[in-house]
Order: sequence, then structure tokens, then C-alpha cells
Amino acid sequence: MNGPTRVEPAKRLRGSLRVPGDKSTSHRALMISALADGASTIVGLSRGLDVVSTSEILVQLGATREDHEGAVVVTGPSRGLCATSQTLECGNSGTTMRLLAGVVSGVVGEHTLTGDPSLSERPMDRVAQPLSAMGAIIEGRGARVTAPLRIKGRHDLRGIEYHVPMASAQVKSAILLAGLFASNPTTIREDVRTRTTTEDMLASAGVEVTVTSEDDDLGRSIHLVPGRPQPRDWSVPGDPSQAAFFAVLGAIHSDASIEVENLEGSPERNGYLEVLMRMGAHLEVQRLGATLRFEVRSSALVATEVHANEIPSVDEVPVLVVAAAAATGTTAFRNVGELRHKESDRFAGSMNLAAQLGCQVWSDGDDFFVEGVASAARFRDFTLSASLDHRMVMASAVAGLAGVGANLVTVDTVATSYPHFFRDVDQLRE
Ligand code: S3P
Repeated sequence: MNGPTRVEPAKRLRGSLRVPGDKSTSHRALMISALADGASTIVGLSRGLDVVSTSEILVQLGATREDHEGAVVVTGPSRGLCATSQTLECGNSGTTMRLLAGVVSGVVGEHTLTGDPSLSERPMDRVAQPLSAMGAIIEGRGARVTAPLRIKGRHDLRGIEYHVPMASAQVKSAILLAGLFASNPTTIREDVRTRTTTEDMLASAGVEVTVTSEDDDLGRSIHLVPGRPQPRDWSVPGDPSQAAFFAVLGAIHSDASIEVENLEGSPERNGYLEVLMRMGAHLEVQRLGATLRFEVRSSALVATEVHANEIPSVDEVPVLVVAAAAATGTTAFRNVGELRHKESDRFAGSMNLAAQLGCQVWSDGDDFFVEGVASAARFRDFTLSASLDHRMVMASAVAGLAGVGANLVTVDTVATSYPHFFRDVDQLRE
């Protein structure tokens, strides 16, 4: 899809869908498989371009990938990954660049990681600093160490004790992955429990990982003993951050009933469902083993207070802003400064979206506020101009579908995480 696209409002939305494989799990399944000695099978891998970037880089570093019907087989070389003189192109994907910075820190030789214009503006000092403390040499541009990154990896990294200064699963994961190559254990402390995908998946691939936390503690400590992951078979559940677009769409649309199945069910990923329920959404959530399914119906929403701790990584804020815009009253988004460091400045972008829909918006430090217009039917038609941010595009599309339409420029960026987003939306239209 190229150029501006008109999103027409939907009259009626009905149906059941499965969103793409979880992006976080997909990146890690590829990386851990490539680090293992032997073949691992991955079912349900995301086909988004971010995950394609990770896969292509791992092949450049010596892993092999075969695509079979419904499954991908990744084989890590017995001698381990090795450096290449080719550039490692991470595209739009912060997860690729930050986690692979950790991996190549332990692969002897020089590595060059590049990204698209959006990724090249994102801070990499947050991984460069701990990885340098482990013994890698990392160069980037300016104080924030932005890409292109040049990394000199070594086989004798030092394990560290590190307190992650912001809530970031990517930083935690980069250190844990580098820690696999170190000569002594690594211990990480995080004050807010971010998605546990890396430590959980490493543990299930046979790496010794111990997690400790106090009962009254939001955060935790993760202790990792260096070692090589073993090959295994992975099954990737659906991506809750993609399901969030449909949860909000179903809740704010005037005639909707939407069901989404097989979602990754961890609490760090599904806080947005709690937020929507607090706002009065007709949402039925069912747990089936480690996965969730939900059914959402048209609802009259009321304002709430959303704290970053309940949706660490804040990926669902742009679409929750659309819910806040359709609600009655003023919703507060608290401590969401990390939004400024995503694929675009989502702090400014989310406020701008709500303002374009007709809401009063204001901010105070790392908090911002949206006074809803009480119904998506009262949204204004709007145009979202060029954005290199898939989640801003999909959040805007939700507003256009439930409201009175929207013009979106550069919708093709949804392919980074959800190539069939617009096709899935169209299948729900009646
Ligand atoms: C991710 C972590 C989050 C999130 C991103 C995926 C991951 O980033 O925004 O979409 O897979 O580890 P931060 O670690 O910067 O919060």
C-alpha cells in the first residue's frame, strides 16, 4: 500500500480473529535458536518486517533458516555465531538493534548495526553503557550513542550487577543475552517488572536463570549463569499489543462484537485489558492455560487514570488514548515519559491524535491528560501525516473506523509489526 489511504468508518463490526504471532516472543525464539547448537522449530512466528530483520541478521551471522509449511527451522552453528563484514540492517526495529547489540557483544570481531531514520534517532546509550561495562566496545553518534553502531565483540565478557535505570525489557534482554557469553554470572535489578519473555525463554532453553522478588515489590532481580541455550521447539502465541487495537475498536464502536483468541497471557502484556474494564468496557476475558482470549462489545466508556506501571513499555498507550478520547471525563496518563523514545515521539503523537479527534489535551512533565468527547461518533475527521510509527498508524485507523473516518499517510509502516492489519479489519466489517 502506498500513499495516503482513506479509512472509512465501519457500520457494523462482527467476528473472530487471530492476530500475528507475538513480536517479542518471535525475536527471542529466533535469537535463542540461533545461539543454540542444533535445530529448533518455531511455530507461529510473526511475519512482520521487524522480525524479518532479526532473522536476516542471524543468517548473516551464520545461523541457517528453513521455512516449512507452518513452521520455521533455525539451526545455530556448532562453533557459535561469527562476525561478518556485511552491515547488519535492523530496519525500524528497536528490539532487533538492542537485543542483537547484546548478542554480538559476545561474538568476537567487529559488527556494524544500522537502522532506518526513525531507529537512527532512538537512544542506544541505554544498552551501550551496560554492554561496555561488560567489556564490549561500542561506538555510535553523540551522547545518546545513536545508530549506526559499531560494536567490537569479545569472547571473554564480564558478568555485571546492573540496576536498569528505566522500565525497559529491551535493555534487560540485551544484558541477559550478552551475559550468556560472560565468564561469570550477571545479576539485573529492575524496579518495575517488564515483560519476562527473555528470562523465561532462556530458562526453558536450559540456561540457569533465577528470579527473586519480594511480595510487596513491583520489581525483581534476575540472576543468569553463563551458558549456551539448547535447541528446542517454540510455539509463539498471538501478540497482545496487536489485539489491543481490536479491544479498543470493539469498545468504542457503536455496533461491534469482536473476539480475539490465543493471546500471550502474561500480566505485563495485558494491563490494557484492566484499563479498559475500569473504563466500563464490555469485555469478557478468559484464560486458557498460558493464553488469553477476549470478547469485546460496544460500550460507553468513562475516564480513568492510567499509570505506566500497569502497562510497562507503554506500547498500548496510543490506542488507549483513542479510548480516552471516546470516553466521558478526563483520563490521566501518568509517568509515560518513555513514550518519547519509541518509533516516534508517541508522547507528542498521542496528544496530537487526541487533539485532532476534538479533545482538550494538556501535559505536565511526564503526565498527559485527555478530556474525552463522550462518544466516538463525536470524533472529527482528521489526517495523520507521515509517520514512521506502526502503532500510531493503527491507533489512528481505530479512531477513523469507530468515528467518522480518517486519512492516513504512509500506512505501509504497519508492515513492521502487522502486515495484514487492514485486511483483518476489513474482515470484521459487515
Ligand atoms: C519490547 C520491549 C519494549 C516495547 C517493544 C518490544 C521487547 O520496549 O516497547 O515494542 O520485545 O523487549 P522497551 O524495552 O524500550 O520498553
